[in-house]
Amino acid sequence: MLKRLTNFSLKMFAQLFPSEKPLLFTGAGSTNQIASFARASGSIRPLLVTIPSFVRRGALDDLLEHFSELGCKVTVFDGVIPNPTYDVIEQGIELCNENDCDSVFVVGGGSAIDAAKVIAACCSNNASVEQVVGLLKVRQPTLPFYVVPTTSGTGSEVTNAAVISETKTHQKKFVVDPKLVPSAAALDANMLKTLPAHITAETGMDALTHAVEAYTSVNRFADAERDAKLAIKLLLEYLPVVYEDGDDLEAREMVALASFLAGYAFNKSGLGYVHAISHQISAHYNTPHGLANAVILPRVMRFNKPACSNRLAQLERMESGKVNGTDEQAADRFIQRVEALGQQLDIPAGLGELKTEHYDAIAKNARKEAWSFYAVPRLMKQAQCKEILASITAGATAASPVTKKDHSTDNSSVSDTQDSPMKQFSVAS
Ligand SMILES: [Fe+2]
Repeated sequence: MLKRLTNFSLKMFAQLFPSEKPLLFTGAGSTNQIASFARASGSIRPLLVTIPSFVRRGALDDLLEHFSELGCKVTVFDGVIPNPTYDVIEQGIELCNENDCDSVFVVGGGSAIDAAKVIAACCSNNASVEQVVGLLKVRQPTLPFYVVPTTSGTGSEVTNAAVISETKTHQKKFVVDPKLVPSAAALDANMLKTLPAHITAETGMDALTHAVEAYTSVNRFADAERDAKLAIKLLLEYLPVVYEDGDDLEAREMVALASFLAGYAFNKSGLGYVHAISHQISAHYNTPHGLANAVILPRVMRFNKPACSNRLAQLERMESGKVNGTDEQAADRFIQRVEALGQQLDIPAGLGELKTEHYDAIAKNARKEAWSFYAVPRLMKQAQCKEILASITAGATAASPVTKKDHSTDNSSVSDTQDSPMKQFSVAS
């Protein structure tokens, strides 16, 4: 009963403080399109937020030239680091204010987008980072804010929150407000094609997890359900393609669109135990978020199945086009489908880093996170969560080593794959 009340509160919050979708530009070369749109919308002095390697290797030269042709005076802030701290963001705010920037434009992954969200919010509100940390602390709209993601998976380009690290303790802090949703986003396959194959696979599985957890959430919204289903369909079809051929721009774009749709879906309906557990595993062992999710996902789907076999069956029937068999059988087939995708992407069967002495703490904190923030279909007991952890360990022991494909030599964007902050506040949109 208490959990139902929590779920109801989360649903009410999502309805009372809805997040809009950003205006979307797609296609190879859409980075320049969004820049033209920003200029046409009145941005003359944008702050361009990015990571150092993009500037070093000239990845932004075309964009800077285009801005120049548009008559814009761009201030570049390339100081973003993975898990950006208050200090880093304050530097960006200072640069933005000093140069009287009238908008924020970001090219980067989750960390850069999150940093840019907070910079855009602080500058328009004349506020410090500390003042906007928390729930609904952004009083005025942010500066006009434009996003070009360079990874596909976090969904940060469509979510209403940012995660930042407190400078001294490196504790994660959250800024959650519908005003943080960007004005527009460009899914430009040219900016994604250098992403290494194993990062493509892991971040893509993160997006799949967002979509599956949103679809099986008990807090349902018609638009989030539709987007989650479409994201799942796109990922099942195009993630293996782009894993094999990172230069397939059409497949890149479809995976980016899927990530966007999945981001919208989980921003509204929330996540579940996959994320709750993976956050704890990553906190203990620094395991990449997408990898942890990919390993945990089928296990939690199996756990959830008794409470949502009809939902999983719907996904299987959408994918296969066949309506035969019971819901339970179809749900099993869908879980097997997700497992097969993981194998195709060389996702390992388990994680060897887990230590049994950490199981209690991981399970306790994961259950607490899910209880507080996610409208999960089935509540997990401590022993059940520990069983899943043991299964993850056993999977690593039993499996032969996985050889990871890597068709790219450019790892410059890898470090900027910060998970979306909405993992913690996924229903607060
Ligand atoms: Fe995630």
